[in-house]
Amino acid sequence: MRILHAWKSLFLLFLSVIPTKVLGAVLAIDYGSDWIKASLMKPGVPFDVLLNKDSKRKIQSSVAWKNSERLFGGDAFNLASRFPSDSFSSVKLLQAAPFDSPAVSYYTTISASKIAETSRKTVALEQSDGTQWAVEELIAMQFAYIKNLAESVAGEKVYDVIVTVPPYYSQFERDAVADAIEISGLRTLALINDGTAVAVNYAMTRSFASPEHHIIYDAGASSIRATVVQFSADHKTSPPGTQIFVKGVAYDRTVGGTEFDRRLREILVQSFTTKHQRNIRNEKRAMAKLWREAGRVKAILSANTEAMLTVESLAFDIDFRTKVTRAQFETACEDLQGRFTQPIVQALDNAGLTLDNITSVIYTGGATRTPMIQAAVKALVGEDKIAMNVNADEAAVLGAALHGASLSRQFKTKNIQTFDISVHEVQASYQAPAASGSSKPRIITTGIFPAGSKAGTKKTLTFKRTEDFIINFNYKNEPAPGFPTHLLETEITGVAEALANLTERGAVDPVVKATVKLSESGFVSVTEAVAVGGIKEETLAGKIKGLFSGGSSSEIEPEETTTDPLRAQDTSSTSESSASASSSSSSAASSSSPTAEKKPTAKELSTIPLGINVRFPSIPPMSVEEKKASRSRLRAMDVEEAAKNRKEEARNTLEGYLYRLRDLLDEENRDTPFKQCSQPSERAALEEKMEETFAWLHDRGDIAETSQLLDKRTSLEVLERPIIHRYQEIEQFPQALNNSQMWNWNTRLFLTEAKRNLTAEEEADLPSKWTREELEALEKTLKEHESWLNIWVEKQKKVKPNEDPVIETTEMKARAKVLEQHLQKLYRRKVPKPKKTSTTASATASSESAPTSSPSSSEPEQSIPQQEIPEDQIPIQPHDGHDEL
Ligand SMILES: *[C@@H]1O[C@H](CO)[C@@H](O)[C@H](O)[C@H]1NC(C)=O
Ligand SMILES: *[C@@H]1O[C@H](CO)[C@@H](O)[C@H](O)[C@H]1NC(C)=O
Ligand SMILES: *[C@@H]1O[C@H](CO)[C@@H](O)[C@H](O)[C@H]1NC(C)=O
Ligand SMILES: *[C@@H]1O[C@H](CO)[C@@H](O)[C@H](O)[C@H]1NC(C)=O
Repeated sequence: MRILHAWKSLFLLFLSVIPTKVLGAVLAIDYGSDWIKASLMKPGVPFDVLLNKDSKRKIQSSVAWKNSERLFGGDAFNLASRFPSDSFSSVKLLQAAPFDSPAVSYYTTISASKIAETSRKTVALEQSDGTQWAVEELIAMQFAYIKNLAESVAGEKVYDVIVTVPPYYSQFERDAVADAIEISGLRTLALINDGTAVAVNYAMTRSFASPEHHIIYDAGASSIRATVVQFSADHKTSPPGTQIFVKGVAYDRTVGGTEFDRRLREILVQSFTTKHQRNIRNEKRAMAKLWREAGRVKAILSANTEAMLTVESLAFDIDFRTKVTRAQFETACEDLQGRFTQPIVQALDNAGLTLDNITSVIYTGGATRTPMIQAAVKALVGEDKIAMNVNADEAAVLGAALHGASLSRQFKTKNIQTFDISVHEVQASYQAPAASGSSKPRIITTGIFPAGSKAGTKKTLTFKRTEDFIINFNYKNEPAPGFPTHLLETEITGVAEALANLTERGAVDPVVKATVKLSESGFVSVTEAVAVGGIKEETLAGKIKGLFSGGSSSEIEPEETTTDPLRAQDTSSTSESSASASSSSSSAASSSSPTAEKKPTAKELSTIPLGINVRFPSIPPMSVEEKKASRSRLRAMDVEEAAKNRKEEARNTLEGYLYRLRDLLDEENRDTPFKQCSQPSERAALEEKMEETFAWLHDRGDIAETSQLLDKRTSLEVLERPIIHRYQEIEQFPQALNNSQMWNWNTRLFLTEAKRNLTAEEEADLPSKWTREELEALEKTLKEHESWLNIWVEKQKKVKPNEDPVIETTEMKARAKVLEQHLQKLYRRKVPKPKKTSTTASATASSESAPTSSPSSSEPEQSIPQQEIPEDQIPIQPHDGHDEL
């Protein structure tokens, strides 16, 4: 019951959070160094991966410029062999990488792109014209491209996105992903570790009667990683859901598909050098071509023992032909062999399990197709444990989409809960308060989130302080070679005032408490800092004193609160809950409720919120201003491209129109409606204008404005329009005449019969539907219409096809309508009740006009306008609190 209650209040909490978000589709992106896969969750849209304009299910992670045209996907990737300096690929390898780190020097061995250092000491890439783009911006362009694809499928704007990241991504790298998302105009719903996403995908179609352990073995382009997960049934929900616990993660960032490509290219380069005695390494185009060929050869060698390769005019006008064998490739990778399986061994070790505990090893990632990797894994785990039961390319993005959908809570999805971990140990360090006397200040360092800590947890640090102070957060070890360890510097402010306040009110030994959160998406942040003091009350004072001053040798007392695995908002109960450390480290998140009732002592505890100033001492995330500037930069480019497209279209349309006119005016085409309906002088004028426009387009088409192009077309259309009008009128005339005559005919029939009936009714002294005057009025309308029609049809008969008509079909229709309505008005009248007088009858009738003229039917239907946020109002967030993620 308690659990249920807690769940309910959590749910209410979510409801109160959601309204700030607009409900809509959820986009998932699996952004790899080689390939982007994306998927859209939207009610009414079949759940699948997104296709690009060429119906490809995976899109190359590339962006390129050809002259001023921007390209994406395969077009961008392939451009490298012609414009190697303007085609950017594998930029994921540079995410958050310090300019002087090994990751960057590695990148320069695989790419011809020119690199530059940003003001944040990270990497930008430079186009041949000198334009520089931060890695975040290049990735944001690709996200925006995916956003557009998704929007064309969804038929509406898409804002919320979940993006997969490797589990080893440090906060620096996660920030780089979140920044790219924001620049692209999307909103980060969450980041999800890719192994976990694959596990979600695996659980989608399976249920687990008893707990099972599996290893997600992911061999991707940039790394190999192994994630040990436990699947078990969650009987607390109905129908039972699935819980996924990540138990251990290990990885190797130096081996993967990209490294294979690099080594294969090296084989090709050496083969060229040996054969042709020329140095090809400085030939950017040739190296880019060989990079592409290496990828192809790798794919061929996955299924064959040798691959032939031919590149015409590779460099120095030499056609390059060579053969690469699988054995050659594997020899070149000999030193990597041991690293293929090491992550499995380590991940098991981290999880405290052995291979015997593992039901299967689930392959995912493109490099699992490489035979030497398969052989190595098979040798370690045995063939029967290897499972190829998820789609190696798409499992991660589909799992991420499902997870994103469950976070957004607007979809009924299978209930799958994930409990992930973080792989880097996070420490807090701070200066010990100066002891009495003048001893040197001591730095105290304490681990707060050890490697393997559950994501989505909070810890409260307690300090005895009297002044503002700084807590530093850092990784215990370099998260990647050359990366800094210093993460955040957090200053807690307003301490003295708050403590003075508490003391004045009689508090004994007030303390400072800071709540540190490791979010679901893997971000560490200080979410709250307060001064806490027990207000003096004889019976309680001692008790409270005992609570806060215990363990004085180590000032810090981390206490752990496990929060909802999805996205709990912080609640003040965390900081108010008692300091009993025993409530910590519960394995199931639901066992600890953030809405636990206040302890009796809480009444006497008083808290005062403190200030938190965050600084990023090493690799800062982009500032709000930087992100805004980048977003404007990208948007300006979009606007420019759209304007260019409009101009292109205007130009093409004008050109097409001119050719059509030339055809119409052609001497050869005699007796066409156009010729019949036009006069020689009109054709001459049109021809003159046409030739003039042709000449103009030829001379100035390239520099013309869109408006000029449109004006030119308009001035031609003005000349053509009367001719078109004539033959349209000739075409429509018979039908219009038929219509007019039909209403004449119908009215006459009606009048004959109605008059006869009226006479009969008068004689029998019965009520009539009409009065004689009414019938006479209709007859008058009829006669007027008939005579008008006769006169003008006679006149029209004398008009030649190349002269303007004397009556317009629109006028004919309008006049026939007048007659029709007059007739309908009488015709629809109901038979009056015998006793009623004829005046009453006509009164009733007057309100019953033909439905076509009733005002209600002509009113346009009120449609509810769709609620969309203007793009420039998607908020950009400062990175001082990641509690949203
Ligand atoms: C793992 O396997 C060992 C040996 O077979 C067994 O003792 C242990 O209980 C298993 N652990 C789990 C979590 O299944
Ligand atoms: C102490 O803080 C409380 C609430 O924060 C405030 O109402 C009160 O005026 C303060 N007292 C002093 C003495 O500053
Ligand atoms: C005129 O209308 C009648 C009846 O609607 C139809 O049968 C006939 O084909 C029409 N003639 C022309 C020229 O439209
Ligand atoms: C004339 O009277 C006959 C017989 O009552 C009826 O069927 C017919 O509809 C009437 N005609 C008109 C035009 O009202």
